[in-house]
Amino acid sequence: MTIISLQHVTKDYGHGRGIFDISFNVEKATVYGFLGPNGAGKTTAIRHIMGFSKPQQGIVTVNGLNSWTNASTIQEKLGYLPGEVALPEHLTGEQFIRMMMDLRKVNDDTHCKKLIDFFELDASGRIKRMSLGMKRKLAIVTAFMHDPNVLVLDEPTSGLDPIMQQRFINFVREEKKRGKTILLSSHIFTEVDATCDEISIIKDGHVISSFNKLELLKMTEKVFHVKVKNALDYKQLGQLIESNTDFHLVNKNESAFELQIGCYPNNLSRLIKLLAAIPILSFNEVPFSLEKHFMEFYDRRVGGELP
Ligand SMILES: Nc1ncnc2c1ncn2[C@@H]1O[C@H](COP(=O)(O)OP(=O)(O)OP(=O)(O)O)[C@@H](O)[C@H]1O
Ligand SMILES: [Mg+2]
Repeated sequence: MTIISLQHVTKDYGHGRGIFDISFNVEKATVYGFLGPNGAGKTTAIRHIMGFSKPQQGIVTVNGLNSWTNASTIQEKLGYLPGEVALPEHLTGEQFIRMMMDLRKVNDDTHCKKLIDFFELDASGRIKRMSLGMKRKLAIVTAFMHDPNVLVLDEPTSGLDPIMQQRFINFVREEKKRGKTILLSSHIFTEVDATCDEISIIKDGHVISSFNKLELLKMTEKVFHVKVKNALDYKQLGQLIESNTDFHLVNKNESAFELQIGCYPNNLSRLIKLLAAIPILSFNEVPFSLEKHFMEFYDRRVGGELP
């Protein structure tokens, strides 16, 4: 069931800035990651989902409601964490929480207290004197305090220390298990990888790639470099690999008796069993950096293919 839907959404700010013909759906109880460099259009897309901005073309719906014409309902119901948090500096954290609870008509503060403990938020002092991380925690607690079913989080972990980032990742996973639908934007691939089911990469206002976790797992195929003793063993191993659909031959060097074998993690034991039957001189994994791969992807021009 589709909860958030963007269909051909365009907002052209001129000079190539904005978002152009963006389409994607976020399904119920999934986490959708929006990954892209600075200025890519993540916040712009999110602002359209929240109904803060009217698309020039296309339509954005949340639970079937048009985000622009139903902006107040959307903003009341959704949990929203803005990228740049603007909080009333003169209030204390506690006063702000109380104010937001009143606004959101939250009577029971049990859930809110749990969030405060979980994120180790010290809400006692004035917001003005809070560290950046503490302000972000306050905004996170505010986004989740009414236990919303749909959450839109713009770079939720920015400003959090590594321990808190990890805690947030665990939290998002738990919320998903509770049936929550979450869209989050990020620059950090590992964070998106750890939480999201579906991922879109946005660059220069265009979605240049969308894929789900299964496709991502395919990309994380491991590659092993194997060296054997002689031409006979080389030939035998090559034939064994090529005739087995669990593996594939990535590369070979006949004169050096070397093969590179691609294997998904769930077939690893089978590969090891197969190799055990042949005298092996050396065996090592070819390091593959997904992050590096994505960095390259970031750099590609609009219109790049799926990695
Ligand atoms: N109100 C506006 N008027 C004019 N240009 C805008 C406006 N809002 C955003 N832009 C431009 O649109 C582009 C996308 O901005 P956006 O804030 O959506 O990027 P982002 O992906 O969220 O980047 P970041 O990672 O830095 O937060 C940028 O070039 C930005 O300068
Ligand atoms: Mg942004």
